Amino acid sequence: MTNEIDNEVLAAWETSSQYWNKYQALIEKMFAPLSRALIADAHIVSGQTVLDVGGGSGEPSLTIAPIVGESGSVTYTDPAAGMVRAAGDEAQRRGLTNISFHQCPAEQLPFADRSFDAAVSRLSVMFFPDVLAGQREMLRVLKPGGYMSFLVWAAREVNPFFRVVTEVLDRFVPADVEDEDAPGAFRFATPRKLATAVPDQVAAIRYTVQKAVAGYFKSGGMNFPAKALVVTGRKPSV
Ligand SMILES: C[S@@+](CC[C@H](N)C(=O)[O-])C[C@H]1O[C@@H](n2cnc3c(N)ncnc32)[C@H](O)[C@@H]1O
Repeated sequence: MTNEIDNEVLAAWETSSQYWNKYQALIEKMFAPLSRALIADAHIVSGQTVLDVGGGSGEPSLTIAPIVGESGSVTYTDPAAGMVRAAGDEAQRRGLTNISFHQCPAEQLPFADRSFDAAVSRLSVMFFPDVLAGQREMLRVLKPGGYMSFLVWAAREVNPFFRVVTEVLDRFVPADVEDEDAPGAFRFATPRKLATAVPDQVAAIRYTVQKAVAGYFKSGGMNFPAKALVVTGRKPSV
């Protein structure tokens, strides 16, 4: 991946950070089971030093901070300045004093070897431009015997929240062939891409999307099933 594309991906996160910030409370509630699964798999307990890579608007750092308590600490990292700001503001609002904030990518962690008891990353590893380099860095700063856990979405088919709307749009607006290895979720980031739909189509798209998602809005609220995977490894304790 070229630096130019890396920068574009990062710029997209900078832009979207305002929305992650705006909907922080909703996202936190919606994805709380994901943080719980990640924390359990990484064996995080009171007193530990924990690294969060690609922490976005604050998760799982904000959930981990009270678990490790004042005798432990959380080190939050993210390369997008807007995300770091949003997460820091939220920690301050909650009076959490055991989180430190760092703006950096996974591939260049500014920490000494063997610094952390556990390292986690929720919904971020799929966006690392160099996944292996990012994971190597995480392993470097992990203490021997420490756990490293990643949470990623499972297949599109079992995640209608992401699938339903894009399937409708596919029928109306020709999509570029997706590079499966490219950092995801930016298919419609190109300015004016959706503007290729003519006004008649916009109404049809709105109607078809409403019909497609109706089944997930039954109880007056939005209720999409979702499935994620947690992958955990342990550094040899030598
Ligand atoms: C979908 S968000 C997830 C944020 C948060 N962990 C959560 O679960 O709500 C993905 C995050 O990955 C971050 N990211 C992008 N490239 C990265 C990299 N090279 N290293 C670490 N994080 C990266 C983005 O800035 C963004 O905040």
